[in-house]
Amino acid sequence: MPRRAPKKPPKELDLSAHFLVLADDPLFGQETGIRTTALDPRELFPTGVAGAPVELEVGSGKGLFLTHASAAAPDRLFLGVEISHGYARMTAGRLAAANAANARIIAGDGNLLVRNLFPDACLQGIHVYFPDPWWKARHRKRRVLSDMFLAHAGRVLVPGGLLHVWTDVEEYFEEAMAAAAAAGVFAPPAEVAERLPEHDLDYRTHFERRTRLAGQPVWRAALERTSAPARVSRVEFHIAPPAGQ
Ligand SMILES: C[S@@+](CC[C@H](N)C(=O)[O-])C[C@H]1O[C@@H](n2cnc3c(N)ncnc32)[C@H](O)[C@@H]1O
Repeated sequence: MPRRAPKKPPKELDLSAHFLVLADDPLFGQETGIRTTALDPRELFPTGVAGAPVELEVGSGKGLFLTHASAAAPDRLFLGVEISHGYARMTAGRLAAANAANARIIAGDGNLLVRNLFPDACLQGIHVYFPDPWWKARHRKRRVLSDMFLAHAGRVLVPGGLLHVWTDVEEYFEEAMAAAAAAGVFAPPAEVAERLPEHDLDYRTHFERRTRLAGQPVWRAALERTSAPARVSRVEFHIAPPAGQ
């Protein structure tokens, strides 16, 4: 299904407390563009709320999940990462308009956060809703739910933390469940029941809304992180190597 251009937030809305850009932010090395040390996601929130558990959403799209979840659980911190700058900005606009003190969105690649920047056991939850299926064989490597992503998802989750996966693509779902099992750090997936929406925007995400309104099925799972040791280590990464090197 084609996507419309993301809506721009009103110019007068201050996004500074909700919008981060991966390569520009001082946390990622303002002068060099290089960050080799781990980034604790709590550093991205004001100090007053820094002790709270953090949940990450990869591919936040228009930001419905982050907006609803952060309002429903003010004692938790919600961080989104969205590779499309325009959608990340749109989500930041929603969070700013809702005055959400416990939610932020980063414009950038979720793989970078999960595989290269986050330390072990720093997240209470990871949410991946309706990830792009990348149908063509030569584009498959762009899928978010890769073997490597799932191994690192296990690394960055605390024991007892949950990985939530929802999609309308059965084959992608089955592949992701097999890769999660192979990571060796998740309990078998728990079924997640479908619930009836109480109003027009009472869906987990925009893609859930449009899939269900089109009468199509959704595959859902919640996978609990066990106490098994992670099988991968964080890999240092240069986000934006300085020009000429
Ligand atoms: C099909 S949309 C689903 C959006 C939203 N989760 C929903 O359910 O409405 C997939 C989203 O993931 C984003 N995305 C794709 N690859 C990504 C990556 N590596 N890191 C962060 N976001 C990514 C896309 O830009 C897009 O907004």
